[in-house]
Amino acid sequence: MTDVLIPWPQLDERHGPWPDGTRVHAWDGRTPVERLSADALDAVGLWVMPYAVADAHRLLARLPRLRAVQSLSAGVEKLQPLLPDGVALHNGRGLHDASTAEHALGLILAAQRELPRWVADQGAGRWAPHFTRSLADSRVAIVGYGSIGEALERRLLACEAEVVRVARRARPEHHVHAVEELPRLLPEVDIAVLTLPETPATTGLFGARELAALPDGALVVNVGRGRTLDTAALLAEATAGRLRAALDVTDPEPLPADHPLRRAPGVLLTPHIGGGAASFRPRAERLVVEQVRRWAAGEELLNPVPAQG
Ligand SMILES: NC(=O)c1ccc[n+]([C@@H]2O[C@H](COP(=O)([O-])OP(=O)(O)OC[C@H]3O[C@@H](n4cnc5c(N)ncnc54)[C@H](OP(=O)(O)O)[C@@H]3O)[C@@H](O)[C@H]2O)c1
Repeated sequence: MTDVLIPWPQLDERHGPWPDGTRVHAWDGRTPVERLSADALDAVGLWVMPYAVADAHRLLARLPRLRAVQSLSAGVEKLQPLLPDGVALHNGRGLHDASTAEHALGLILAAQRELPRWVADQGAGRWAPHFTRSLADSRVAIVGYGSIGEALERRLLACEAEVVRVARRARPEHHVHAVEELPRLLPEVDIAVLTLPETPATTGLFGARELAALPDGALVVNVGRGRTLDTAALLAEATAGRLRAALDVTDPEPLPADHPLRRAPGVLLTPHIGGGAASFRPRAERLVVEQVRRWAAGEELLNPVPAQG
């Protein structure tokens, strides 16, 4: 039996005792790793990495018996190439569904109901009402209809929008369209939301051609990964006043202070905070506890990430 390293101490006080014979250590990614005994580091077989600690991966070199890594992020494209051979990777699929979906919904509502304008008017002492777009009765394409996409769909339907599902492959029985159908689908949508992972196939997937296919005034939302959307092409459409955008993720990140996207008309930006909300922690704790139970029982861990090929 190898040991387990997790980001938070005392989870057993909230979630019940750890399985018999399992030694569980905690490292938050910020305190010096030397506080863990060399004996513990030598024995760690499963490591649940601390969330949003950019250089936590430095510990990989100190874990000789490591067999599995659990990331608490849904997107693991930067971590994947750093893992030693023979170490399985598991991602945080599902942990960020609620937070990212509600952020996407917030961006959509803010853009449709022009909240940035009203906030500016509030500060300027202006009272200048007019009719706005709405989310109700809008048609929304979810490009990357996976875990977050499904959570977003539930929220959109509650707002009386119509949803068009798009994924890598068509699943006609579930009304999911293949990405190849985008040129036919996009002219009919009011809002396109990208919830795509970053992979070689999705980099630049939503480019000049897809943007040009959208009708005038359409809204482009990105809460997946910045590189899946062609920034230069979007900038051209926004600057021309033809398309609007609400982006939680950008290319590059952080977006430089003088980047033209910051000043483009009709563009609303947030600094990659979709997943970072209070609803993350309890969900993450439940996943950690379940993975430790499975690890101790010799069962398959949840959320395996296929090796890159
Ligand atoms: N803004 C934030 O803070 C934040 C928070 C969490 C996650 N994210 C990002 O959101 C991404 C999605 O997360 P998730 O949990 O929803 O992932 P997921 O459940 O794996 O869903 C991904 C979706 O993307 C589709 N897809 C993959 N490659 C594609 C391609 N080449 N063309 C078209 N569609 C493709 C998949 O299609 P199939 O179903 O056909 O395979 C699936 O529908 C993560 O990878 C992460 O980068 C961002």
